[in-house]
Amino acid sequence: MARILITSAIPYINGIKHLGNLVGSQLPADLFARYMRGRGHEVMFICATDEHGTPAELAAAKAGKPVEAYCAEMHEVQAEIARGFRLSFDHFGRSSSQRNHKLTQGFAAALDAAGLIEEVVEKQVFSIDDNRFLPDRYITGTCPNCGNTSARGDQCEECTKQLDPTDLINPRSSISGSTNLEVRETKHLYLRQRSLRDKLEAWIDSKKDWPILTTSIAKKWLNDGEGLQDRGITRDLHWGIPVQKGDQPWPGMEGKVFYVWFDAPIEYIAGTAEWADAHGLDDAAWQRWWRTDMGAEDVTYYQFMGKDNVPFHTLSFPATIIGSGQPWKLVDYLKSFNYLNYDGGQFSTSQGRGVFMDQALSILPSDYWRWWLLSHAPESADSEFTWENFQVSVNKDLADVLGNLVSRVTKFCVSKFGAEVPAGGAFGPQEAALIADLGARIATYAGLMEAMEVRKAAAELRAIWVIGNEYLQSSAPWTVVKTDPEQAQAMIRLALNLIRVYAILSRPFIPDAAAAMMAAMGSDDWTWPDDISAAMRALPAGQGFSVPENLFRKITDEERADWQSRFAGTRD
Ligand code: MF3
Ligand code: ZN
Repeated sequence: MARILITSAIPYINGIKHLGNLVGSQLPADLFARYMRGRGHEVMFICATDEHGTPAELAAAKAGKPVEAYCAEMHEVQAEIARGFRLSFDHFGRSSSQRNHKLTQGFAAALDAAGLIEEVVEKQVFSIDDNRFLPDRYITGTCPNCGNTSARGDQCEECTKQLDPTDLINPRSSISGSTNLEVRETKHLYLRQRSLRDKLEAWIDSKKDWPILTTSIAKKWLNDGEGLQDRGITRDLHWGIPVQKGDQPWPGMEGKVFYVWFDAPIEYIAGTAEWADAHGLDDAAWQRWWRTDMGAEDVTYYQFMGKDNVPFHTLSFPATIIGSGQPWKLVDYLKSFNYLNYDGGQFSTSQGRGVFMDQALSILPSDYWRWWLLSHAPESADSEFTWENFQVSVNKDLADVLGNLVSRVTKFCVSKFGAEVPAGGAFGPQEAALIADLGARIATYAGLMEAMEVRKAAAELRAIWVIGNEYLQSSAPWTVVKTDPEQAQAMIRLALNLIRVYAILSRPFIPDAAAAMMAAMGSDDWTWPDDISAAMRALPAGQGFSVPENLFRKITDEERADWQSRFAGTRD
């Protein structure tokens, strides 16, 4: 039994995520966690909400709420939706937790003690009417290059020129519109990442089995242009983790907070500590997942994220960990994803374009979405959601292939032999051939799941469903029953066992349907079918079973058209 630590990139607190966000991190992480648990491993699966930063502050202000209250409410909203999608986190934490405060301040102290923190005085725009420093992207003005009147202080989106806020003509605050701005001096902490460059490169080079998508992004940031830069890890904001050296004040840094991207990944650790707290466990209980001096040397740590998050997880967070000089666990395998597009364009949170997690659950159960998203995960390239494709996948894979097999077999058995596993006959060559084929395919499926080849694993699972249908097609118990009822009983006994095996294999993808199939077979034995021959004989003759109600229903053309137009525009 192995010990497996899994984290998904933690979603920003403001707003509800769209299906593209879901398929790029939380959902494949959940698939992997469920699979590993199913194989009997000890799994710790952590996610959280990413609660700090200016966007959270502004969203709270827009909602007319104090930021603490806003974050608490939105955390609950996201937690509820995560339950709706059956995301099986061991803990869904909050980056604003006291655990994260303490850990983040502790990391800063360790980095400082290692000589890796530099204090830098810089000039920044202060808005007198807003009574706050403005991040570059919250300053708007006219682009000196192309004349665009709504260029941002970091970049002009019209001509893509990188800008400094002081380049803008007629600058104003994007928060209040005020032009009452001045440039003030302010002191910030910088993490001297450049001095860790060689260590980071050696570490990345040692990861021979990582996906190209992951290592190529990391290498680009290490080597492009001027290469890895030192980075500011503090901000002039009110909402965030106060800058302290451990539990001591940091002279000259009063009233400042750590940058959200400094504290967010530390929440992976803090979230595990929150898990221990929630279960009344001591520090050793979470440290054995994270501290190599406390038992974590035999943990394998997997991270899941969209490609935009890769630089932070291959460079910035490892710089924090390595630089601290403390025995924290580094990631062992980083699985990253491309983007999912929506019906000819992009999903967009800011424009409300696409299907959002709450909307998805309001029209269909989570298994339908899980199956489509995972079987179309954007692994080797970006992929696209279209309503036609969604309808075809659901109707064919789930309803025709899997659902139909389950309902045909159970209904036929009830009508001919009663609602108990029939005892007659014995398996012959056809059954032996199916069992052999299944054994080989299950081994392939397991290999793909272990390698996190999500799409290929889904395709193999579907193929496993298909061979069951082919067996029924060619063995035709509905015909055989007329001449040899004993033989037909053996065929149906095999098919009922097949339903239980399908429940076990399919559970990581479609947990609700899997539970319904298992319950219908009157069993709760989820043991992985390592011995497929025994697994296909696991249900005792005479055991009661039931016909599961509507495992999957088909999506009609009218529904498809209706949803397509309903979700064509922008949300709200
Ligand atoms: N909130 C970020 C996003 O949605 C992800 C943060 S991941 C972590 O892009 F490493 F910081 F935790
Ligand atoms: Zn411009």
